Amino acid sequence: MEEFIASLEDQHSLDLFKKLPKGKRLRAKLILKIAGESRESYKLAAIVELVHAASLLHDDVIDDALTRRGKDSINAIYGNKTSIMLGDILYSKAFAELSNFSSEIAYRISSAVSLLSVGELLDMALSEQFNDNKTAYFDMIYKKTAILIEAAAASAAMLCGKDASLYETYGRNLGLAFQVIDDVLDITQSSEVLGKPSLSDFKEGKTTLPYLYLYERINTEEQHKLISLFKKDLDKDDKMWIKNRMKETSSLNDSIQYAKELGLEALSAIKDENNDGLTKIIKEMIEREF
Ligand code: FPP
Ligand code: MG
Repeated sequence: MEEFIASLEDQHSLDLFKKLPKGKRLRAKLILKIAGESRESYKLAAIVELVHAASLLHDDVIDDALTRRGKDSINAIYGNKTSIMLGDILYSKAFAELSNFSSEIAYRISSAVSLLSVGELLDMALSEQFNDNKTAYFDMIYKKTAILIEAAAASAAMLCGKDASLYETYGRNLGLAFQVIDDVLDITQSSEVLGKPSLSDFKEGKTTLPYLYLYERINTEEQHKLISLFKKDLDKDDKMWIKNRMKETSSLNDSIQYAKELGLEALSAIKDENNDGLTKIIKEMIEREF
């Protein structure tokens, strides 16, 4: 990634790029575990991670997020304009490098990025008011999160001549499970561990799966209370009420269970592929503490 950005010969862009927190590099790991290690697979991994980093730079502007992975976000330090432009530099460079790959791979990744943007727009629209529609939520998280992971896995398979459909199914289910778990952690983890205030999804207008289950399982009076807290700065008592009711109605457990089922779906797609690395990614994700 650094090599790609350095080749633009602009020190300011490179300095800004180096300030980005690294993250888990899930998409890159996936590509290397599917396609093996080669110059080409490293390039593809860098391309997908550059797109992902760009999307987060834009997302932090859209969400007015002042932190990213526990550190001040680029928009918090340098302002929205810099964050948007660094994002533009990263994804346009990624596309320039993508044009050196087969048209099948280039089309797969670039179409995923279009839908990624559609997913973010959907997320914004759904955040306007309290969303109680699970289908809309799943469509949004598929596009916003799973689609790039799905395309990364499929294109890595294409790169090394493996059956792309198996890896695509693996990637899609991993991506969906990953987003549901991220949504659960926003509620169960402390702000210290999260690197941002807990329950910030609800404050940002995101009615994630645990909220959708909760809403279905409480009476009308409590539904009104939940809606009245939507997008508000929650005090300790409000947070406690939400967390307790989620526990009592099994909304958190059922969300975790749902993510685990998606994980098993991912595993079943690649069961005959003899890929321990991919099995490990799923196991680590579904066997963690919440
Ligand atoms: C994080 O969601 C956001 C995404 C995974 C996708 C954002 C996509 C775009 C902004 C489309 C533009 C794409 C490019 C390539 C510039 P979140 O806000 O739920 O998660 P967070 O807590 O990590 O912010
Ligand atoms: Mg965000």
